[in-house]
Amino acid sequence: MGYLPLSLYRYAHPHSLLQSLVHPSHHPAPALLPSPNFNSNSNSHPTGGFRFLDLSVGKSPAYDEVLSRIKSGAQFLDVGCCFGQDVRRLIFDGAPIANVHGSDLQQPFLDLGYDLFQDHDKLPRSTFIAADVFDAGPESGLQQFESKVDIIHAASFFHLFGYQDSATVGRRFISLLRHQSGSMILGRQMGNQTAGEYEHKVGTGTMFRHNPESFKQWWAEVGEATGTRWEVEVEEDKSRTWLVHDKERGGGEGKREGKEPGTGPLEDPGRMALRFCMRML
Ligand SMILES: C[S@@+](CC[C@H](N)C(=O)[O-])C[C@H]1O[C@@H](n2cnc3c(N)ncnc32)[C@H](O)[C@@H]1O
Repeated sequence: MGYLPLSLYRYAHPHSLLQSLVHPSHHPAPALLPSPNFNSNSNSHPTGGFRFLDLSVGKSPAYDEVLSRIKSGAQFLDVGCCFGQDVRRLIFDGAPIANVHGSDLQQPFLDLGYDLFQDHDKLPRSTFIAADVFDAGPESGLQQFESKVDIIHAASFFHLFGYQDSATVGRRFISLLRHQSGSMILGRQMGNQTAGEYEHKVGTGTMFRHNPESFKQWWAEVGEATGTRWEVEVEEDKSRTWLVHDKERGGGEGKREGKEPGTGPLEDPGRMALRFCMRML
């Protein structure tokens, strides 16, 4: 818990689950913690081991610009927002609630966000939308954002999918964005010096691990397919804080020889953290 951002701690209601995790003697947490996301020994889930508290958006070099644009009316959407921690960070820093939104496949994660922060009275339920990013049908909760979003945040998200599926996600993001200069997609994800498809950590199929060069090539293909042009910044995040936590527990991403997630040795020493920011031209 050493990396709990002070802003989130201050944001959370004094009797929230988040506070009880920090001060268990003051505010005992419910006996049944929603495992595995809260289990500090577990790495068996993408959000395991409190990694969700290692916020993404605030660490982006573009954060000041993002915040200022949202304050001036830009619409922000965090896709795969999980507990909505990055959305709440923006609100703590003064972003108008009406301009920030989060979406996730899992309604229970969105609900747990309210349990964690106890901000039901502050944040309307409409801030968060349960939706599958691959569902582009008329019933999808994301339809309301079609061509209306200015900034999309995607942390630890593209890397969940193989090359083709992540390109589908990229095209979906572009359809949600306003087609105008300055529309932005930013975030971070796991990468590897050796770009390629890697065995899925918890699910089936593969997860594509980019290096900066392959990421640029991939995004150029997405841009071409959508008739959009982009300035792409992608670099290794040398702080690697969110990888270090993982490594410290003896876990790792990538190829494992049939071992339980989180128990095997690191088998992909080339792995790296990537941070990216794409601006529509
Ligand atoms: C690794 S977590 C990242 C969470 C958060 N962005 C972060 O950085 O801590 C990936 C999130 O994406 C969500 N997700 C996975 N597949 C999805 C899909 N098809 N559509 C929307 N969300 C999805 C998961 O439920 C999960 O909350």
